[in-house]
Amino acid sequence: MAASRYFLLLLFVILATSATAQDEEEEPLTLSALITAVQLGETTEVTCETSLEGLSVIWYVGNTNTSGNRIPANESLQMHAINGTLMIVSTTKNFHGQYLCQTSDGAHELIAEIHVYEMPTYFTEGMIIVGINAGLVVIFFGCAVYTFFQKRRKKKPEV
Ligand SMILES: *[C@@H]1O[C@H](CO)[C@@H](O)[C@H](O)[C@H]1NC(C)=O
Ligand SMILES: *[C@@H]1O[C@H](CO)[C@@H](O)[C@H](O)[C@H]1NC(C)=O
Ligand SMILES: *[C@@H]1O[C@H](CO)[C@@H](O)[C@H](O)[C@H]1NC(C)=O
Repeated sequence: MAASRYFLLLLFVILATSATAQDEEEEPLTLSALITAVQLGETTEVTCETSLEGLSVIWYVGNTNTSGNRIPANESLQMHAINGTLMIVSTTKNFHGQYLCQTSDGAHELIAEIHVYEMPTYFTEGMIIVGINAGLVVIFFGCAVYTFFQKRRKKKPEV
């Protein structure tokens, strides 16, 4: 009787342990970022990794529907993918969009987005600040001139 109860407990422990192990199972594919923002002209990279034994990852331009070209593993190219890392050098607007990371067996895939943005122009903000300062200068001189004439007017009757 005691032995069977011990056996049930042991079975329960084994089942609980295997369930925990399954919960902690890694994702087949992981991306360093789903959306990567890059400034025009800068270099950007997105890393895709697989936890699956014996598989590598392949990067494509676009998504599953657009079935874009495989990104070559040639470091001399502006856009290349080496060892799961997609890299774009001197990013232009043309690189804005979706990229597909797929396991080499084609069973798993994830979409990464690259958003290319331009530096905001500070010209308008700069003009507003210059305008405010010019206004303050005018007010300052206006006050100085007013005070000067006020003083002169006060002195006149004494003469
Ligand atoms: C591919 O096209 C289908 C049908 O138009 C659409 O439902 C799906 O969301 C598209 N997939 C992607 C990744 O855009
Ligand atoms: C890599 O790209 C450069 C530039 O387009 C090209 O000249 C070279 O032949 C390519 N190398 C390979 C191994 O494809
Ligand atoms: C590819 O990545 C793996 C794991 O990060 C690393 O061990 C290996 O050296 C890398 N290979 C190259 C050619 O960079």
